[in-house]
Amino acid sequence: MNLAIQLLYLLICTTQIYGWYTCDDKTFCRNIRYKEFGESSFKLLADHATITHDSLFLDLVDTSRNKTFLLTVNCAFEQIHRFNIQDPEKRRFNPKESLQEFQFKENGNYIIANDRIITYCGPSTTTLYADPFRIEVHIYDTLIATANNDGKLVINTDDDDESISMDFEFMETERVYGIPLHAERLSLRNTGPGGTIPYRLYNVDHCCYAVDSQEPLYGSVPVLYAHGRRRTTGLFWLNSAQTFVDIQNNPDTTKTFFISESGEMDFYVLIGPTLEEATRQYTLLTGSANLPPQFSLGHHQSRYSYMSQYDLLSVVKNFDEHDFPVDVLWLDIDYTDNFKYFTWNFDAFPNPVEMQQTLNSTGRKLVVIIDPHIKVEEGYFVYDQGMENGYFVHNPDGSVFTGQCWPGLSTYIDFKNPHAQKWYSNLFDLDYFPSSTENMFIWNDMNEPVVFDQDEETMPNYLVHYDNWLHRDLHNMYGFLQTLGTWTGLMDRSLNTRRPFVLTRSHFAGSQRYAAIWTGDNLPTWEHLRVSFPMCLSEALAGISNCGADVGGFVGNVETELLQRWYQAGAWLPFFRQHSTKDSDRREPYLFPDDVQATIRKALRERYAHLQYWYTTFFEHELFGYPVIRPISYYYNNDINTLDIDDQWLVGKNILIHPVAEPQTSSINVYFPGGIETFWYSVEKNLMYFGVGNVQVETPIDYTPYFYRGGSIITRKNTLRRSSIDMQNDPYNIYVFLDNNNEAEGTLYVDDNISFDYKNNKSFLYYQLTYINGMLNMYTLDEDSHFEDKAFIESILVYRNPNQFEEGTKYIKLSTDNVLIKNNLNLKLKSGLQIKLL
Ligand code: NOJ
Repeated sequence: MNLAIQLLYLLICTTQIYGWYTCDDKTFCRNIRYKEFGESSFKLLADHATITHDSLFLDLVDTSRNKTFLLTVNCAFEQIHRFNIQDPEKRRFNPKESLQEFQFKENGNYIIANDRIITYCGPSTTTLYADPFRIEVHIYDTLIATANNDGKLVINTDDDDESISMDFEFMETERVYGIPLHAERLSLRNTGPGGTIPYRLYNVDHCCYAVDSQEPLYGSVPVLYAHGRRRTTGLFWLNSAQTFVDIQNNPDTTKTFFISESGEMDFYVLIGPTLEEATRQYTLLTGSANLPPQFSLGHHQSRYSYMSQYDLLSVVKNFDEHDFPVDVLWLDIDYTDNFKYFTWNFDAFPNPVEMQQTLNSTGRKLVVIIDPHIKVEEGYFVYDQGMENGYFVHNPDGSVFTGQCWPGLSTYIDFKNPHAQKWYSNLFDLDYFPSSTENMFIWNDMNEPVVFDQDEETMPNYLVHYDNWLHRDLHNMYGFLQTLGTWTGLMDRSLNTRRPFVLTRSHFAGSQRYAAIWTGDNLPTWEHLRVSFPMCLSEALAGISNCGADVGGFVGNVETELLQRWYQAGAWLPFFRQHSTKDSDRREPYLFPDDVQATIRKALRERYAHLQYWYTTFFEHELFGYPVIRPISYYYNNDINTLDIDDQWLVGKNILIHPVAEPQTSSINVYFPGGIETFWYSVEKNLMYFGVGNVQVETPIDYTPYFYRGGSIITRKNTLRRSSIDMQNDPYNIYVFLDNNNEAEGTLYVDDNISFDYKNNKSFLYYQLTYINGMLNMYTLDEDSHFEDKAFIESILVYRNPNQFEEGTKYIKLSTDNVLIKNNLNLKLKSGLQIKLL
C-alpha cells in the first residue's frame, strides 16, 4: 500500500499548500478579458439564410479575419432559444452527451430583412441584427436578453488557442444564481473592478477549500439564472472546457461574460419568466434524476476507511444497539487489494459476500468506491485488458499516459471511448466484479480526474482521448462520462430492473441523470457547514438536486456542538452522509455522551419521519424537473429580502428549513416569507407564524427550526426504525396545515422503493390530497397506476389558524382547539377516499 502517497495527500489537504490559477494566469483568458472591445467585428449575411424543417442557418463573418462561421438558430420546447456557431473548416468539441434526447421544434415563421432576422419560439422571438452582429431575445414586446451587445464575441481558431467568448445581458433582473460548484453564496458576487476575480469552472480536487470563493472545485455546471423581483432568464453555456465567468449585478439588469478555453460555441437562452419555469426548462435539456432508490434517501455512514469486515459490521451492530437508523454503509479505497479497483483486500475482508448478506439481513446496503485511475501492474486484469485494447488516455506520441494516484503509477480510463465505456460498464457485472452482490452500489471519486504529479493535480490539457479529442476540450465532463459508465453498468447487471445508486465527486451538466453528488473535502468548521447550504441550492437549480456535504466535515476532528448542528442541517439536504478522513477521531454517533446521542437521534428521526415526503418530491422532480430543494426566492421573489437568503431553504414547496449554523446560539433569525396571509406551522412547538419576515426563534441544542406551509398536506411515518426498509409497512400520519381559507393540498407517492416497476408497469400510487370544507379527499393522479401498499393511514392531524391576528403579531401559540387529531383510523390509501373531519 502506498502510504507515502496518502500522507502527501493529507498534507496537501491539511495545509492547503496549493494555489489555484485565475484568469490572469491563463493566457487565453487574459487575452480576451483585458482586450479593448469596440464594435463587434462579426457581421451576419442576413440575406443568405438557409431554412430546414427545424433550423435556420446563416453565415457569420468575422470581418477582422475575413473568416466565415456557420450560425444555427433553433427553438426547443417553445421556450428555449439555441444558438450554435461552427467553424466549417475545423471541428470543435461539443459535450453533447450532457443533453438528453429531444427534437428541436419545427420551424415557425421568420421575418428576414437585410439588416435583421426575426425567429419565433413560442411566446418569444430572437432578433439577429446583421451589422454589427448581436442577438436580442424578446417575450412579446419585452426585451429579456442580449448577446454580443458589448461586442465581446471571440472565436479563436489557432490550434494552440481555440478559446471563445460571449457577453450576455439580462433585463429586469437583479441577481445571478448558478454556475456551481463554488464555495460561495447563492447570489453571485460582482467580478471585475471593485469586485472579485471571475468564477472559474474547472474540475479539480480542492481539499479544504476556502469559503466565499470563486476558485474552482470538483464540478462545473455552466448554467446560470439572472433573477429578480420581476423575472428570471436562464443561460446554458454548453461547453466542457475550462471556463471563466464574469458577473455584474446592476439595479435592473445583470451582465455576464463567458470565456472558455476551447470547444464549439453553443448556448441556450431559457426564457423563464420565473425561476420555477427556467429550472424546468433547463431539465428539459439535460434531464432530471431518476427516482432514487428509497434507501439512498436514508442516512449513510462512511469513513475513510472502515479497515475490515469486522469493523464495518460492528459499526452496524452499534447503530442498532443505540437506536440510530442507518440505511447504507460505505467502504473507501482500503477495501481493495492495493487500490486495484474491482478487487478485494481479502485479509481485511475475508468474506465480502457474507458481509453484504449480513448487512442485507438487517435491511442495509453497501457502497464501495471505484476511482478512474488504474494501477500499472501486469497481471491485474483491469490494467491488462485496458492496455490490450487501448482503453486508456494517451500522450500525444501515442503512448499510454501514466500519473500518480492512490496506487502509485496509474493509467486513466478513457471514458470518451465508447468501447472503453462498454468494457468499464461490464466490469460491474455480478459475475465479473468478484464478491459483488446486487445490494452493492458505487461511489466514483477522484474523477476530476486527480493526477497527483501534474499541475493543479489534474490531467494535462494536451493528452489525447478517443477520436483525437484533446483533454482540454472535455476536462469538465470526464467525471460525468465515468458516471455514465457506472450507471449503465449497474443497470445492465440488474437487466434494467433495479434502480442504481451512484455518488460522484466530479460532475457536469446532466450528471443528475446518473449520480448524486457531495461537496467534497470540507472542514469541520461552522463556515463549512453554512456554505454547504448555498452550494447544494445552486446545484439543485443547476439540475443536480441530490446533493449533500460530509456531515461533521471531512478533514479533522469535529466539536460535538458542531456535529449535532451538522446532523440537524444534513437531515434536510437530499444526500445525507457522515464521512471523515483517516487521521480524524472516529465519530459514529454512538460514541458520544447520551445527551449528544439524543440530539443526533432526534435529527435522524426527523429525516426518516419525512422520508415519504422526500420520496414524493424526488418523484415529482423526475416527472416535472423542479428541483427538490429550493431557495426561498423560488416562490417569494417579489419580496426583495428573499433574493439573498441562502441560510434557509424549502424542501419541495411545503417545508421551510433554517438550521442553526453558528456556535452557541440560543436563538436565530428566521425569515418567514409570503405576507400576513401565509402561515408557517411548527408541530413540535405548536406555534403558527405569519409570513411577515424576521422572527427570532429559540434554538436549544436539540431543536432544528423547520416549518410547514399553511395550505399543505404532508404525510409522515413517525415510528423510529433501523432503516427505511423496516418502515415500508408502517402507518401513515397525515398532517393537514390549513391556509387562510381553511384549505390545504398535497401529494403522496408510494411504490416498491427499489425497482423500475414504477416506470415499466405503472406499479405505484400517486395521490392528490385536498382538504376543503372540513373534508379530506384523496384521489389518484394516474388512473392506470396500481400498487399493493400494506401501510395504512393511522392518524390525521389538522392544524388551524386560530384567527387571532392583531397588528404586529408574528406568531401565535396553538391551543388544543386549533389542532384536531383523529387517531386509530386504520384506513387504506385509495382513490375516492373522503373523510369528514369538521
Ligand atoms: C477524496 C474524497 O473526497 C474523500 O471523500 C475520500 O475519502 C478520499 N478521496 C479517499 O478515497
